[in-house]
Amino acid sequence: MERLKVFLEESDMPRQWYNIQADLPTPMKPPLHPGTGQPIKAEDLAPVFPMNLIEQEVSAQRWIDIPEPVLEKYFLYRPTPLQRAVNFEKLLDAPVKIYYKYEGASPPGSHKPNTSIPQAYYNKAFGIKRLATETGAGQWGSALSMACQMFGLECRVYMVRVSFDQKPYRRLMMATWGAECIPSPSDRTQAGRKILAEFPDSPGSLGIAISEAIEDAVGDPDARYSLGSVLNHVLLHQTIIGLEAKKQMDKIGIYPDVVLGCAGGGSNFAGISLPYVCDKIHGKQVQVVAAEPSSCPTLTRGPFAYDFGDTAMTTPLLPMHTLGHDFVPEPIHAGGLRYHGMAPIVSHLVEQKLVEARAFDQIETFTAGINWARTEGVIPAPETNHVIAAVVNEAKKAREEGKEKTILFCFSGHGLVDLAAYDAFLSGKLIPYALPEEEIQRALKSIAGFPKP
Ligand SMILES: Cc1ncc(COP(=O)(O)O)c(C=O)c1O
Repeated sequence: MERLKVFLEESDMPRQWYNIQADLPTPMKPPLHPGTGQPIKAEDLAPVFPMNLIEQEVSAQRWIDIPEPVLEKYFLYRPTPLQRAVNFEKLLDAPVKIYYKYEGASPPGSHKPNTSIPQAYYNKAFGIKRLATETGAGQWGSALSMACQMFGLECRVYMVRVSFDQKPYRRLMMATWGAECIPSPSDRTQAGRKILAEFPDSPGSLGIAISEAIEDAVGDPDARYSLGSVLNHVLLHQTIIGLEAKKQMDKIGIYPDVVLGCAGGGSNFAGISLPYVCDKIHGKQVQVVAAEPSSCPTLTRGPFAYDFGDTAMTTPLLPMHTLGHDFVPEPIHAGGLRYHGMAPIVSHLVEQKLVEARAFDQIETFTAGINWARTEGVIPAPETNHVIAAVVNEAKKAREEGKEKTILFCFSGHGLVDLAAYDAFLSGKLIPYALPEEEIQRALKSIAGFPKP
């Protein structure tokens, strides 16, 4: 019988994160100061992030040591298993072997603690007392709440209103881990009040919640802001996923033909794929695919442009694929994929043709997720359903081409706290939705006149 699970000993868990900046054939464009149009300096970011994380953000060092206190917390759930999805393979009836890295094994149920733990650690080490953040689906908010509790920090989470209403259990997880969770837009910040004055029923968006959390953090010298995706240091921390997966695949003597992840801000996708993109840069044949929602098609339909990371235009201008900073996506159930922008690293790799992107409709993704649950057992998070839809698509291609393929993907989280979304799907309330072109053109007006990367 073929191996269904590959485990790593704790002693074999990687002790360093991988920084792709060291291997990029073409360097990335720098983030710009919106006032001067010049590349931002470390000190510009100091009111927002602690200096030890800013150093990681701009580092070009290939390997960065994981501090001992972070390793100790990682050991609560890492190394995560690499699993083979034989039952799903049978259902697909295609010449594919499907392996997945199960990040749902963490306490909050997703990949997010891979960065919330180091972020809480570095802030604590820098003398910070409180973190403010945003959350979409609530996965990030719960992961940061847990990590803050572990390192003795207070935590305040601005949660996108539509998810706050749809996902009461995530809020309760945050409360259990000792954090304060506020629906966004809120009346706590100027950014929130401005949106509420114009759109009292705003469902919120990650861009708005980010503005609120940044404003909150910079107004308190003992607080800093923490972001759950997009930034270089976040993607760096997530590389533990791909580094472990490589060791596990080495153990059984296989190498994937295709590596996939779903992409909201780009962190779990980058986590599984960057170590393979490194191989690809050095000549290895491997296809790397990011899966996103057709209702928020940042990589597949948004231009590569300089744009703000948030709606209130408080962040530096980031070179990224974007739908425009005032884009408010439809309230689809994959709250974690409702972001107007994309990690600059992932955007750059798409521009460099090292990474491909595909978009999937929510009906397609839930169909894939339900088929997964009925064959493999685990109920995936709605975000994860996007990568499963992409795997189905790869399997279909392999069948049509009559080619055998080994597929590796990041199973970013389980959906046990997202059952309301499954209820909506199973009772026929979800409808197919692709973003109309006029909507994209309207949203992109907000970046007309910005510098071009
Ligand atoms: C389970 C899960 N997968 C994926 C994502 C998307 O985020 P990212 O692209 O940063 O991995 C989220 C975000 O909340 C999530 O909760």
